[in-house]
Amino acid sequence: MANKFYITTPLYYVNASPHIGHSYTNIAADCLARYMRQVLGQDNVWFLTGTDEHGQKIQKAADQAGLSPQEFSDKMVLQFTSLWQALNISHNDFIRTTEERHISFVQRALEILHKNADIYQDKYQGWYCLSCETFWTDTQEKGEVCPDCKGPLEKITETNYFFRLSKYQDWLINYINKNPDFILPQIRRNEILSFLKINKLTDLCISRPKERLIWGIPLPFSPQHVTYVWFDALINYISAVGSFDAGDNYNSRWWPADLHLIGKDILRQHVIYWPIILRALKIEPPKAIFAHGWWMIDQAKMSKSRGNVVSPIDMANKYGIDTYRYFLLRDVPFGMDGNFSEEAIVKRFNSDLANDLGNLVYRTLTMAEKYFQGAVPAPGRLNEQGLKIEGNIKALAKEIDPLMAAAGGFNFGLALEKTWELINAANKYVEETKPWNLAKENKTAELSSFIRLLVDVIRQAAQQIYPFMPDTAASIAEQLGQDRIKKGRPLFPRIDLKTNG
Ligand code: ME8
Ligand code: MG
Repeated sequence: MANKFYITTPLYYVNASPHIGHSYTNIAADCLARYMRQVLGQDNVWFLTGTDEHGQKIQKAADQAGLSPQEFSDKMVLQFTSLWQALNISHNDFIRTTEERHISFVQRALEILHKNADIYQDKYQGWYCLSCETFWTDTQEKGEVCPDCKGPLEKITETNYFFRLSKYQDWLINYINKNPDFILPQIRRNEILSFLKINKLTDLCISRPKERLIWGIPLPFSPQHVTYVWFDALINYISAVGSFDAGDNYNSRWWPADLHLIGKDILRQHVIYWPIILRALKIEPPKAIFAHGWWMIDQAKMSKSRGNVVSPIDMANKYGIDTYRYFLLRDVPFGMDGNFSEEAIVKRFNSDLANDLGNLVYRTLTMAEKYFQGAVPAPGRLNEQGLKIEGNIKALAKEIDPLMAAAGGFNFGLALEKTWELINAANKYVEETKPWNLAKENKTAELSSFIRLLVDVIRQAAQQIYPFMPDTAASIAEQLGQDRIKKGRPLFPRIDLKTNG
């Protein structure tokens, strides 16, 4: 394994408040970053997130709010930074595309591409949807309305700048073929390969005339144009962690990214535009791009434009931060779509967290207090069932490691399931051992090795759940203390569905 790990999330548009979908990507990225810090050490992991603040969408939202785009962005960005803080997101850097460090980097990249003739000027003619900020060809549009939003299309002719995507199509296909873990999961890789086989890429229009849009990064070689927002935003992944030297070579401690985590809605930009931009800049592609699925509400994607969004902070306040994090990563296989409901959260809470984990911690600490005055007893001889559990404790990390890697599909759900198998085996062990009888019969040696084993199970479980539920892991570690128990309140008191809400 490489000795560093650089992970990114998309840069979210600041035109509206973050919802559950945005929090999902950041929680998954946070889980991987925390996990990799356990593996590689704190200093060898870099976790980047941020906000996408240029373009038509933001300008329009700012207009509606009666603010300048910069004032509007400055206000909206706080909703993202405060949400990430509330959800225990441990990013190392937060980049805004309106920061000077990003703007000057983008301009430098544009200059290099222009100098190398990968960007050229041309006349653009076609249909344009103002509200989607999308161009449509004559064959795509039917009846002068936008195929996406059904709004009016404008016929436009203007001078623009284009990036030579088409030149690199064969290179890209070849690259994807040679690197089976570049686009993940496999279903997305297949989708892109067949798209690239059927379609000829056309060059990408990367400029907007200032008469139409002022809120963007000015093209260094044409002050009458600003940069197309996607071209600007993708570059954050390199602008945040490195710089060009005098010979146009890019240098960075962190690049190539080990993982761009995104939703499947923005797959094409990330696996077509982005690697080609990098190729043209003579920069290595990222190691992997993983596109996860969508959170849905009643069969429809949760999205600000549909207006069916649920607030992540409301859910975290109602059920607890760690319950919310656990639910998102446990309930839906990573990569697939999932239906969001509060009933599903409560169900997970009561079974996995209250009945299984919470119960094991509480009953173990209660017994340690009752039978050993809060001391953690020394390890001792175990029966067959105990020996098996001891073996499971030792094997757990090795079982989980491959599941948390790209080749294992970042299988958060299965990784948690492995930990829960140990927790459940320990709960069963308690029920079958009947420790209260051991106590009655004064079998102190058996009782003490039994309780010590349970403590070891809990320590190992806490270690494994830390990336998913950092507060819970810390609370367990605190209650276990060094050699004296400090039992707290139950971690997850059951939620009664009838009295809830
Ligand atoms: O696309 N389910 O920003 P954006 C799961 N600025 N994830 C969801 C989701 C849902 N229902 N809805 C949103 C942009 N997401 C660009 C990105 S990157 C250089 C520029 C998450 O605010 C998911 O990660 O529309 C998705 O890809 C992202 O939010 C889109 O956020
Ligand atoms: Mg979107």
